[in-house]
Amino acid sequence: MSDVLSQEKLLQLAAAMREHWDSRIANDYRLWMSDGVESDAQMWETGARDLEQLLSGLDLTTTRNWYAAELGCGVGRLLRAAATRVRGVIGLDVATHALSYAGHFLSGYDNVQLLQTEGTTLEPVEDGSLDLLYSFAVLGNLPVAVFAAYLREFNRVLRNGGLIRLQLYVGNEQPTVENDTLAIRCYERERLLRAFQLCGFDGLSLVDLIMPFDAADPIRGIFPVVLSAVKVSELVPSVEQTLEVLCSEVEPAAPADWPGSELEYQMSIARAQQLITKGELAAGQRVLEFAIKRFAAASPSAIAVLEELKRS
Ligand SMILES: C[S@@+](CC[C@H](N)C(=O)[O-])C[C@H]1O[C@@H](n2cnc3c(N)ncnc32)[C@H](O)[C@@H]1O
Repeated sequence: MSDVLSQEKLLQLAAAMREHWDSRIANDYRLWMSDGVESDAQMWETGARDLEQLLSGLDLTTTRNWYAAELGCGVGRLLRAAATRVRGVIGLDVATHALSYAGHFLSGYDNVQLLQTEGTTLEPVEDGSLDLLYSFAVLGNLPVAVFAAYLREFNRVLRNGGLIRLQLYVGNEQPTVENDTLAIRCYERERLLRAFQLCGFDGLSLVDLIMPFDAADPIRGIFPVVLSAVKVSELVPSVEQTLEVLCSEVEPAAPADWPGSELEYQMSIARAQQLITKGELAAGQRVLEFAIKRFAAASPSAIAVLEELKRS
């Protein structure tokens, strides 16, 4: 295996994903699960809404005897609605804090099982044991090498004829570094479809994801979609071969002077502003502190606002 995909490299990325997501969720779980909705009640509503789009066309008569898994279940936003549609569902996540929140929120749901993944495999899940694997707001932010590794795993855990429904981004490849665990990864349509075919899937379709806000960015060429496909073969290529099909260029490692994830910084600053404007000063200060601590190029005005809040 080349350095691009050495086991050591994948383990480093897995450790970074766990650490980054644990700190995001500990700081403000509603921001990082669902773009900062106002309440947990709204979070369950948006979870049901997003699951509806993911599972479009699948009615209860089809799914009620199914075993499913959600990759990157977070605090259980979609899991709660999924539990009412299938016989059993496994919530998988790399972050310890995500699973402890999910355990708390879903304690009354007997058909939900929560399992921690190491970050690049679905190891606790048995071969061929699932009818459905779905994921929302996860795969489009993973380092591309990790996504390629997960494609093999999707094939492994699904039965023949099993279905995947995945929220992803198609369009222009976006410049980023592999250490960024939040930046959007966008795949060219043809490459994405070929990679899934190569990994044993057929019946592929890409349907635009419609959100109540602008989720697409036509200027940068980023379009959110739901990918649907059926597993038809056990044959899978190496992760390296998958990666070659998926992307025109390998994602580079971050340079020594990389300041941190710009998207994480922008989202935290916007959230802090929203909280401060609403008069929730303590919550705003906590998010601002998080933003400044994690981004080396934090703006002097953000630092000044934080100092002001600390004094007040
Ligand atoms: C934006 S949140 C979305 C959570 C949930 N799907 C939802 O829509 O509410 C992304 C989730 O993916 C998880 N995650 C990130 N990288 C992962 C990985 N490599 N393997 C498993 N989970 C991962 C994070 O811990 C986080 O809970």
